[in-house]
Amino acid sequence: EEKFTSSFRKGYIEVNGFSFPKRYEELKEEFDNLEVNEEDVWICSFPKTGTTWTQEMVWMIVNNMDFEEGQVNLGHRSPFLEVSIVFDFRDLLKNVPNFNPPPFLQDSLAFVRSQKSPICMKTHFPYQCLPTQIQNGVKKPKMIYVARDPKDTCISYYHHSKLMEGFKGNFEEFCELFLAGKVNFGPYWKHVLTYWGLRNSPNFLFLKYEDMKKDLSKVIRQVSEFLERPLNEEQVKILTKHLSFEEMKKNPAVNYELVCDLNKRFKLTEYDGVFMRSGSVGGHKDVMSPEMIKRFDEWIKENLEGSDYVI
Ligand code: A3P
Repeated sequence: EEKFTSSFRKGYIEVNGFSFPKRYEELKEEFDNLEVNEEDVWICSFPKTGTTWTQEMVWMIVNNMDFEEGQVNLGHRSPFLEVSIVFDFRDLLKNVPNFNPPPFLQDSLAFVRSQKSPICMKTHFPYQCLPTQIQNGVKKPKMIYVARDPKDTCISYYHHSKLMEGFKGNFEEFCELFLAGKVNFGPYWKHVLTYWGLRNSPNFLFLKYEDMKKDLSKVIRQVSEFLERPLNEEQVKILTKHLSFEEMKKNPAVNYELVCDLNKRFKLTEYDGVFMRSGSVGGHKDVMSPEMIKRFDEWIKENLEGSDYVI
């Protein structure tokens, strides 16, 4: 944990068996008591599993593929509920001149509350930490979960941690943290399998990154049907192109340029990388040692014992 040295990481706590940034303590009640609107769509995921990709898809479908409005930053169009616990900007706001991140980054709860429904909400919260109204079934907004092969997720998360969270360790060290469930929102399996348990609820859709890579148009049709927002084949074709890795990589509204620029400008991290990194399936094969792959395979087998979940 001491390997995370960035100025906006202030230690970790355990919440319902998950690793959370310490700031959660202060805001827990507000998250628990959040007033949920059934018109909203909740996009839930473990970090680095294709959240941004899913957010842009869902927002476009919900908003009739409004490409003009779609030029607004995705963080504004599809707010990240708990970004305030991941990036605690309070010290920076106080001490760094000209530091002025957009409202959706400054106070995510206030921002979410200020938005008109339907919101396409992003959250990395495990099911166990969603607002009480969702957990006790009083409110049933549509929810979409996206999952990804844990080895590819781990690599993506390693780069993300360097890019966004000032992680100073090497890849092997990050793998250890990942396997031990000590990265933000870990452990991975507890996160994925709890949501997997909800897959047959009518208001719930479970997606996989690998299926999106294999046949994006098919997933777009599936999501539009689930959201009851029909698209014709021409629209599916246009949206498929818009959501391709190449298009998203060069789209400043979704490629996190804004956040990366803030990081660089205010020297929040020293790593020079991009958010839209490789967007591939099976990339771990080029990076993970055979020993580490074996460790992951055993860990996968152990965690999936008795489950019908397939990676
Ligand atoms: P890589 O780091 O493996 O490239 P999240 O949005 O949950 O943080 O996930 C980020 C991952 O999704 C990154 O993976 C990113 O490149 C990938 N991604 C984003 N948009 C994508 C797209 N249109 N097609 C394929 N992968 C995409």
